[in-house]
Amino acid sequence: MDVENFLYLLTAEGQNALDAASKLEPREEDFLAHFTALSKVFPADLARAALETAILRREAKVKFPQADRMYFTREALEQATSYDVSSYRSERYEGYHPVADLGCSIGGDTIAFAQKAFTTGVDLDPLRIQMAQENLRSLGLAEQSAFLQADLVSLLPIKGKHTALFFDPARRSKGRRIFSVRDYHPPLNIIYTWLKNFPAVGVKISPGVDLDELTEYSAEVEFISLRGELKEAVLWFGPLKTASRRATLLPGPHTIGVDRPPNEEPVLPLSEPLTFLLEPDPSILRAGLVGDLGAILDAAQLDPSIAYLTADSATNNPFVRGYIIEDLLPFHLKLLRAYLLERGV
Ligand SMILES: C[S@@+](CC[C@H](N)C(=O)[O-])C[C@H]1O[C@@H](n2cnc3c(N)ncnc32)[C@H](O)[C@@H]1O
Repeated sequence: MDVENFLYLLTAEGQNALDAASKLEPREEDFLAHFTALSKVFPADLARAALETAILRREAKVKFPQADRMYFTREALEQATSYDVSSYRSERYEGYHPVADLGCSIGGDTIAFAQKAFTTGVDLDPLRIQMAQENLRSLGLAEQSAFLQADLVSLLPIKGKHTALFFDPARRSKGRRIFSVRDYHPPLNIIYTWLKNFPAVGVKISPGVDLDELTEYSAEVEFISLRGELKEAVLWFGPLKTASRRATLLPGPHTIGVDRPPNEEPVLPLSEPLTFLLEPDPSILRAGLVGDLGAILDAAQLDPSIAYLTADSATNNPFVRGYIIEDLLPFHLKLLRAYLLERGV
């Protein structure tokens, strides 16, 4: 979709096309059949834009409770933060206003910020800026937000020394994932130019980031999981920093933060399997907090190189999934298969 088609979609005729497309409850795999039907009633460009939007709104429901009032492109939806995560993150900005959402795209994060403070979204992409503006308007947040199309690599178009920044750089280029923070668009080190004037900065980065690339940054690193799936890492600078490393599990939130060097992780006792096997949440693993969690749970480790813990008492700590150990078998796939088959697993 381009800006022209998007603006067409916002007209009365466009909204009729969108209603018609939404009623079909379309899926990507049925695109052609629905497009053929819709383009008999509406101009082809409008039918395509309406159908794409209806498909993406259905898919976006897992990320946005109000997806049926929002606009997306496929790539922007894939990059957008789930509302559960952005809403949790925005809590850290409590008391800061205004906020600037840098690399705002279709406004996935702007929505959560604008619910708390006036937020200016900035992005290079004109279509995403238009969509963000419409998304915030349709969610009743127009008065709480403004959008600018600008290149963040040039002078930051943000004024006011009390503005807190949130930066979500692009981690994909031409459909390919970017692994190094140095190759993000814009690269992570651009924040050095911003920190001089804006000390409160949060940056969303990939949860798979190479931690060695972060040693030069004096920031808290928070790993966030949502319903057991690792979603992102966030760097918190200046007054937004609350620990050196943190694991957070959503919904909740449940969070464990530590303020110690990475090499001073508590050493847990080693043990043969006890009554329970405890599997830590991926946010704990990624934040390197297995030892800290084990100490909280009074658990032992099965092996220094394995993150599974074991304990004699059950726990309802949200950061672990517990299993009762019924049997111990030697590592042997055939034996395991037979064992499971016997029990109808
Ligand atoms: C990962 S997306 C942001 C997603 C957004 N936080 C959300 O939840 O919807 C990154 C955005 O950065 C924008 N971007 C990349 N390079 C930029 C630049 N030099 N200046 C401004 N925006 C840029 C891209 O257009 C893209 O929309």
